[in-house]
Amino acid sequence: MSKDPSQHRTDELRSFGRRRGRKLSPLQSDLMAAVLPRVCLDLKQPPPASLRTLFDPTVTDVWLEIGFGGGEHLLWQAEHNRNVGLIGCEPFEDGVVKVLRGIEQNALSNIRVHDDDARDVLRWLPKHRVSRAFVLFPDPWPKVRHRKRRLVNAQLIQALARVVRPGGELRLGTDIGDYARTMLIALQSSDHFQWTATKAADWRLRPDDWPETRYEQKARREGRVCYFLSLRKS
Ligand SMILES: C[S@@+](CC[C@H](N)C(=O)[O-])C[C@H]1O[C@@H](n2cnc3c(N)ncnc32)[C@H](O)[C@@H]1O
Repeated sequence: MSKDPSQHRTDELRSFGRRRGRKLSPLQSDLMAAVLPRVCLDLKQPPPASLRTLFDPTVTDVWLEIGFGGGEHLLWQAEHNRNVGLIGCEPFEDGVVKVLRGIEQNALSNIRVHDDDARDVLRWLPKHRVSRAFVLFPDPWPKVRHRKRRLVNAQLIQALARVVRPGGELRLGTDIGDYARTMLIALQSSDHFQWTATKAADWRLRPDDWPETRYEQKARREGRVCYFLSLRKS
């Protein structure tokens, strides 16, 4: 473990692509300058004794979304669960700006953002404080030589097992059959998460409280099957 969680580990492969798209518009730059400092996690400080106090007003539960992309799921969950605090992690600037706009437009007080690698946050978080964690449609890295960059692997599952509380939930989504298999193999390496599916529909159909993301829409348009995995932490 790195001593300073704000420092990336040098032995971790980068699991994301580009961090910047087109130049930000003046409005987007203003959001980054005015809103991000207010909602950004400060990993240089130790986490508060109660994670719930990261949010004002204080929340009853803390959830974590890793790789929120355009923020559709993160914003939806924050709007529909106002008493839950959501920590969202995303290194891609355009996605971060979308979430900042959503926070402003909907006056959301229950989102905190880490605009970088989620694994920094996993190291920073205290044990067993997260009730739900989401890793939805992580970058597929389809080329065989790139597969080692896939975010969901045994190390990530181990890190999630540390922060998710017993009885908590982990949700994983992918549109790549081979990645679903990678996920299940990584989960088998830890006996902390039990797959709750009892029938095919449980992983074929997205639960009602799991809104569709833009990435999933694109996958379906292109004819790919999506997999929705829900795991219970023991
Ligand atoms: C294929 S996109 C899917 C985005 C979103 N979850 C969705 O369903 O639309 C995967 C996202 O994960 C982000 N990502 C990849 N590695 C990450 C990491 N280590 N920490 C945080 N986000 C990461 C990428 O930047 C990208 O936006």
